[in-house]
Amino acid sequence: MNNALFYSAIIATLISISVLESCTHDQISANENVDASLYQMAMDTEGYSWYKYSDTALPKSSGSGHSNPKLRTRYNLLAASFLDSNGLVVPGTQFPDGSTIVKELMSNTEVIERYAVLFKDSNHAYADANGWVWGYIDADGTVAVKASDKGQACINCHSQADHIDYGLMNKAFPL
Ligand code: HEC
Repeated sequence: MNNALFYSAIIATLISISVLESCTHDQISANENVDASLYQMAMDTEGYSWYKYSDTALPKSSGSGHSNPKLRTRYNLLAASFLDSNGLVVPGTQFPDGSTIVKELMSNTEVIERYAVLFKDSNHAYADANGWVWGYIDADGTVAVKASDKGQACINCHSQADHIDYGLMNKAFPL
């Protein structure tokens, strides 16, 4: 192979690798404003399934670290494939990259006040050791807890006994 051919083969390989890489990271990149991206993801309800397939607001559980009195939790298409026929998370689930779980935190009159977001992206700069990026953003877009904190304020409580991949919905609201 002459030099020109050799180098163009290398360049073609590098381009195809970077295209593949960018496809696996299509939702948020570390250069973006991650909190703003999580906020956009949270507000987009398209394709989500509700916990227990019900959009009825639930009263927060006694162990909740969230101050708002009511809540609803939904799972994006990928994450919802780990819900069973009753809409509970299948025990032992390890959500794959691209999974998004959004909890809508509500007032007593069921006005959304804040979004709590769990977004799985193991290679993200703000992912914790388990691959989750933790978002906590008010309904008006004000950041309550920065994603760059990597869930420091959240993980201790969310790793309590009987969590499923750091989710507590099954524990707080079993059948
Ligand atoms: C003291 C315990 C505690 C702390 C701290 C806490 N949470 Fe939670 N969280 C819960 C409980 C319990 C639930 C189940 C629903 C409920 O009762 O609020 C929950 C539910 C959630 C859910 C719905 C998905 C699921 O299965 O758990 C998300 C998303 C979430 N929390 C994100 C966060 C984020 C982000 C933080 C930190 C900024 C945080 N949580 C801090 C206890 C906690």
